[in-house]
Amino acid sequence: MKPAGPPAVSLGLAGALAGTLALTGCGSSPDSSSGSAPELSVSAAYMPQPVSDTMAAGFLTVTNVGGTDDELTSVTSRASGRITVHRTVDGAMREVDGLTIPAHGRLVLESGGNHLMFDELKRRPTQGETVPVELRFAHSDPVTVDMPVKPATYRPASGH
Ligand code: CU
Repeated sequence: MKPAGPPAVSLGLAGALAGTLALTGCGSSPDSSSGSAPELSVSAAYMPQPVSDTMAAGFLTVTNVGGTDDELTSVTSRASGRITVHRTVDGAMREVDGLTIPAHGRLVLESGGNHLMFDELKRRPTQGETVPVELRFAHSDPVTVDMPVKPATYRPASGH
């Protein structure tokens, strides 16, 4: 049986958001505190060489120097039939519709945490190759990244 708490909280948030939208929707507010558009850049992309012929994980960092949140909504690649965005919560991963890239912040996909999940790879990528991926966002234009394939045990130097 599912606890009734979380859905109630979600509904409350949705209500609060709707209220905010209604307030800003009138357009006459002189409030200039709303930020600049999101400005995204992608770094530290890599794919650990997968052991599977059809599945792999991918990691990267999206930095947003703009004043508005954005959201990573989908990822595609000609190397894979399907790519999903996964969150890791308490060691268990689950697919999500998107991940927020906060204003003046970053979205970090890293080993043990949030990640891209490649299903249906057309063939197994090997170390030294690159896998082209296109990242799509709620607000910003798509960004194409050549994701280098690293050894299976690779960890970025700046990893936590
Ligand atoms: Cu996953």
